[in-house]
Amino acid sequence: EREIKVGLLGCGTVGGGVWKVLAKNRDNIQKKVGADITVKRVLERDKEKAVAAGVPAEIITTDINDIIDDPEIKIVVEVVGGIEVAGEFIHKALKAGKSVVTANKDLLAVQGRELYELAEANNCDLLFEASVGGGIPIIRPLKECLAGNKIEAIYGIVNGTTNYMLTKMTNEGSSYKEVLAEAQAKGYAEADPTSDVEGLDAARKLAILASIAFNARVSFDDVYVEGISKITARDIEYAKELNFVVKLLAIGKETDGKIEVRVHPTMIPVNHPLASVNDVFNAIFVKGDALGEAMFYGRGAGELPTASAVVGDIIDAARNIIKGVPGRIGCTCFDRAGCSCFEKKQIK
Ligand code: HSE
Repeated sequence: EREIKVGLLGCGTVGGGVWKVLAKNRDNIQKKVGADITVKRVLERDKEKAVAAGVPAEIITTDINDIIDDPEIKIVVEVVGGIEVAGEFIHKALKAGKSVVTANKDLLAVQGRELYELAEANNCDLLFEASVGGGIPIIRPLKECLAGNKIEAIYGIVNGTTNYMLTKMTNEGSSYKEVLAEAQAKGYAEADPTSDVEGLDAARKLAILASIAFNARVSFDDVYVEGISKITARDIEYAKELNFVVKLLAIGKETDGKIEVRVHPTMIPVNHPLASVNDVFNAIFVKGDALGEAMFYGRGAGELPTASAVVGDIIDAARNIIKGVPGRIGCTCFDRAGCSCFEKKQIK
């Protein structure tokens, strides 16, 4: 029976979730993939945290080379977060010919192109379904299932922390500070929650979505961003009186070959489906010329929902390894230099 071995970099909220999902569904996954997917090593400085997630102490390491130099490890899962160290780990893994799964939108936003080139040069997969929408399948549907459409718009709620905060502020009249602390305690927020509340996390996700949807290079700097830190209980109260709710929306549109990308608080009429997207839920609308409109809805952050997307990518990478085709099927890029699948488009 085949075995595919994984190196897990980071055992925080998402890493712990990945460990748990792989352990819980091991038999089920084995039957689907035709191979046993096991985590051979876990890189984590805080050993106790990893042990608490169920990881046996003897497989925990603090040396990345224990994973990079192990030829048995074919897939590296980066859920360390941050840019520099995570970027260095991914570089090393790809250069060593290992497929990489990451949820790291910050890194993709700044080093995406370079990493794709590296993945392509080394015939490795670089998969990132968990970078947008947490557990909601959206990257692959856009790249694959909806590839036959010309996408006209993609918009919705893509940050769980701020949606959780706005929901509590709307329904319970809670204060901004109180709800931010709750969202952090639940593991929804980024390490630095400024990225959430100032809309930067949503802007990074929109750049990834818009690049794929509009077949163009859209970067974080192209996105107009305004967060929720200036929203007061009063604004929410006034909106309510007028039958509106306040949501942080990410909006991408293509009109006459020109792309518009923005993130800002928006008044939504209470009877619009987005008005009922509450707590940590995200919802992304996609408008295609053949499809019409579709809404992707689900938990946009949190341990197990995010792990669901990461494990889906691990399985995809494992299947490609079994078929002997990692990095060689379809186009895995969203920002690959010289990639013929990207058009030059003007950003409004
Ligand atoms: N901080 C992010 C959010 C995590 O709240 O949506 C998921 O990307």
